[in-house]
Amino acid sequence: MRWREIRDLVRLQPVRLDPVERRLARCSSIDDLRAVAGRQLPRAVFDYVDGAADEELTLADNRAAFQRWQFAPRVLRDVSQPDLGVDVFGRHLSAPLGLCPTGYTRMMHPGGELAVARAARRRGLPYALSTVGTTTIEDLAATGHPELWFQLYALRDRGLTRTLVARAAEAGYQALEVTVDTPVAGRRERDVRNGLTIPPALRARTILDIGWHLGYWLAMVRSPALEFANLGDLSVGEDRVTAANMANLFDPSLTWDDLAEVRAWWPGSLLLKGPVSPLDARRAVEVGVDGIHLSNHGGRQLDRAAATVDLIRPLRDAIGDDTVIVVDSGVRHGADMAIALARGADLCGIGRPYLYGLAAGGERGVRHAIDLLLSQLARTMQLLGVTSIAELRAGGDELVRSAVADAPAPP
Ligand SMILES: Cc1cc2nc3c(=O)[nH]c(=O)nc-3n(C[C@H](O)[C@H](O)[C@H](O)COP(=O)(O)O)c2cc1C
Repeated sequence: MRWREIRDLVRLQPVRLDPVERRLARCSSIDDLRAVAGRQLPRAVFDYVDGAADEELTLADNRAAFQRWQFAPRVLRDVSQPDLGVDVFGRHLSAPLGLCPTGYTRMMHPGGELAVARAARRRGLPYALSTVGTTTIEDLAATGHPELWFQLYALRDRGLTRTLVARAAEAGYQALEVTVDTPVAGRRERDVRNGLTIPPALRARTILDIGWHLGYWLAMVRSPALEFANLGDLSVGEDRVTAANMANLFDPSLTWDDLAEVRAWWPGSLLLKGPVSPLDARRAVEVGVDGIHLSNHGGRQLDRAAATVDLIRPLRDAIGDDTVIVVDSGVRHGADMAIALARGADLCGIGRPYLYGLAAGGERGVRHAIDLLLSQLARTMQLLGVTSIAELRAGGDELVRSAVADAPAPP
């Protein structure tokens, strides 16, 4: 063998000096990003992101449910130019993907919500700030992202709740989503076991952890204190706010009348976020909501709640085509997005996938998570023989079928 042939055979990869680039280059799936996040974050913080309620049955079923659907592709179509663009609430998005609200985002990475918003803006996707976010409504708006949404937990303090809505409107947020699946906190066993406080407190176990995650702790010590940036100084009775008692801030007496009141306050697009049944969805449309964000909170609230992918079609049948449906909980691959869209969703949402990316590499990590999902969606569409989201949605049952043999198809 000649030297040139040997050289061609052994193609050395360029050495990447930047550790973030090195980490991300090795991640070719959301699961890879999750594994990196598991190494970067202290155990209790990773568990806060990764964990779910009680026995985590819904968490597991959110994934399993997507695998109960399979594709029946069309062939011999020109699929050289797939177009992922969609119009939602009359505004154009580069793809049918939204970044869902997550509390305490700066605990995963000092870049926090600002890093997520910048990544979403660069990719032309909406991002929703959580009521219990760690960046102010106004600071996030200053990123210039034109498609910011605000997620509202109705608080026991009604005055503060109304002020939050007014601030989001004033700051130019496009949509408000009212989360309705947290009248009480889901019991997340991992957080309880880890004794997670928000922010993480320096206890014996934390001190031991510092040696393992020095980079994380140095970054945290150097960045501004973690706090509920939009809520001022809050406590839960005499106690410090913890992951376990945080939902005690929320108002469990919320009713449809309150939703009507929020409708009157909010001038923009309004969504209801939770495991909204067809019956409740019809009622919500009567109250004047513009969209349903179908979600089981990623399995973090009511364990044994049904996987959302199986609930899309009955919801769509109940409310017709004029109301937007966003679906989240368990989306980990572009193929999952294709299934949800073909079942009748307008937009897919992700929570943990971008948080894993954030923990793995800040804003670049979030972009990496988005790029993985969108390249998987584009490839899935090409292999299915469709070139637009409208075509994928119109293909519906012809393209996506139940994979459960001899069992009634999920509704
Ligand atoms: C760490 C974490 C914090 C969350 N915080 C909120 C929140 O503050 N408000 C809310 O409405 N949903 C919250 N969610 C739920 C997400 O908005 C979304 O519904 C869920 O993550 C989707 O499921 P997935 O993680 O499987 O993608 C949170 C989810 C996670 C993982």
